[in-house]
Amino acid sequence: MKRVAILISGGGSNMARLVESMTGAHPARPVLVASNDPAAAGLDRAAALGVPTAAVDHRDFRGDRAAFEAALLAPLLAARPDIICLAGFMRILTPGFVHRFAGRMLNIHPSLLPRYTGLQTHARALAAGDGEAGCTVHLVTPVLDVGPILGQARVPVLPDDTPDTLAARVLAAEHRLYPAVLRRFAEGDRARLDL
Ligand code: GRF
Repeated sequence: MKRVAILISGGGSNMARLVESMTGAHPARPVLVASNDPAAAGLDRAAALGVPTAAVDHRDFRGDRAAFEAALLAPLLAARPDIICLAGFMRILTPGFVHRFAGRMLNIHPSLLPRYTGLQTHARALAAGDGEAGCTVHLVTPVLDVGPILGQARVPVLPDDTPDTLAARVLAAEHRLYPAVLRRFAEGDRARLDL
């Protein structure tokens, strides 16, 4: 049984779908939900779902990224994760942290990578006049948002879309894609999944 730790920064809707998917014959189970923000609503959601939680406030480390990560590593390593899922986690991780979990740390990004790495992906897709948008699950590498792609889900861009309406449509696709990719990944299947 694979042990999965999930890192969040906010509401945790992706985390909740991942946790809810890991039941029955699923080869993985959630062992920890951790956040860089003690006030993240996702921590309450995780606790309500029966998953142990941890919070390490990155603001306590005044920009010392390595010190923040050292503090985060304590509860994380104690959970003995086989797989780490970044789900709405909004801190950039150092190469040292990423290397420690190389090949077993996943992230979901709200664009069809390699387009629109970084932030404000929906506004940028709309500004470019794209006819479609979507989300990507990829392996995390030291360079932001460019690791090997494990899966993508596409959604249409509609004429009257705003960044918020597009974000909502993409988020619903994330909730379908991430659980599907995690299950395959936990089963050892690395074939790219396109929804
Ligand atoms: C959302 O913008 C989502 O697109 C991205 O992270 C943000 C928060 O997601 N992956 P969540 O509800 O905290 O999972």
